[in-house]
Amino acid sequence: MHSPTPRPDLTLSPPRIDGARLDRRLAALAEIGALEGGGCSRLALTDDDRRGRDLVIAWMRELGLEVTIDRIGNVVGRRSGRDDSLAPVVTGSHIDTVRTGGPYDGNLGVLAGLEVVETLNEAGITTRRPLAVAFFTNEEGARFAPDMMGSAVQQGALDLEVALATVGIDGRSVGDELTRIGYAGDAPCELRAHAFVELHIEQGPVLDREGITIGAVTGVQGISWTEVELRGVSNHAGTTPMSMRRDAGLVAAEIAVALRQIATELGPPQVATVGALTLRPNLVNVVANHARLTLDLRNTDEATLQEAERRAFAAVDELAAREGVTATRRSLARFAPVPYAEQVIAAVEGFAGALGHSVRRLPSGAGHDAQMFAPSCPTGMIFIPSVDGISHNIREFSRPEDIQAGADVLLQTLLQLAEG
Ligand code: GLV
Ligand code: MN
Ligand code: MN
Repeated sequence: MHSPTPRPDLTLSPPRIDGARLDRRLAALAEIGALEGGGCSRLALTDDDRRGRDLVIAWMRELGLEVTIDRIGNVVGRRSGRDDSLAPVVTGSHIDTVRTGGPYDGNLGVLAGLEVVETLNEAGITTRRPLAVAFFTNEEGARFAPDMMGSAVQQGALDLEVALATVGIDGRSVGDELTRIGYAGDAPCELRAHAFVELHIEQGPVLDREGITIGAVTGVQGISWTEVELRGVSNHAGTTPMSMRRDAGLVAAEIAVALRQIATELGPPQVATVGALTLRPNLVNVVANHARLTLDLRNTDEATLQEAERRAFAAVDELAAREGVTATRRSLARFAPVPYAEQVIAAVEGFAGALGHSVRRLPSGAGHDAQMFAPSCPTGMIFIPSVDGISHNIREFSRPEDIQAGADVLLQTLLQLAEG
């Protein structure tokens, strides 16, 4: 017997968020680590990440939030409720970016949370449960794998000491860099939430293509990240006969082609990417003796994702053996697909409609901090369109009216959950 999903009360509360104020905060944060031509670069735990953190915390304090920083550097700003003995309803996301990031990925979810708080402050509304706005360390995983590191540690999916010892792409460790930027906090890494809701840009083409304003996110697809190292023999590019080569660069290229082939054979929604590839010695006239590359495989179905992994790893071994190159593999991240709670999905869908916005359900292709909360509390996400479906790119853009719509849906959803 299934217990019936509680039907959400979709009565709209009067306040609406101030879209212009939210846009100003987004623009101010995007100035930190700004890139020429647009976008920003705030890789986790860099000096620019620190400056971004300092700014957001200053805003949190101005809004009267009680700020705590935990041992993995997650920042939580808490707003009192009428009954502070109750677990808070939490919203938030991340403010770290990939090296070629846009101004919205992550930042929107954090700053929309602050906008909700400011709107409630102005309207003189105190919710029954406390509210909290959080931003989590190293969601991107671009400098230190795995992604969603801070929320994973906080929600018990990753050991704190393992996370602190993680060495990044530049040879520095999470623990050392947290200390260096002054964000190794002393609060315990735990946050028991009554519910979690995250607003995020879609980062894909579905909403933009269909002209729909709000996505009620049904869950997150599974993610598998693997690092492959290939060791061959470097030699002279002019004198070494093709039949005598042990070329790590060639095998890396063949693996990239094989991954595309696997995704094509399995069909959508399977996706597969070789996003990082470095060769050594990386010179025009030397056969490469070393290659390091990454495999990113994703699917909404766990069994198919496992099949993609099986085929990808077999391709690595076969292609390396054929060239006489040795291959080693290391898992960087592995998350099973995560379903979100029907209660939250229905609330997002219902409030979007009640506010007069077009809405559809869809799964998330990207990983998000929300997925770390899903095993322990009702969790959901709100998507707004990414113009042309572009993200992890300095051209990432979302329209101000869609941002306002998403933040208003967030406000209503949080209010409803915080009264429950
Ligand atoms: C991280 O956000 C990812 O989906 O790659
Ligand atoms: Mn993100
Ligand atoms: Mn991202």
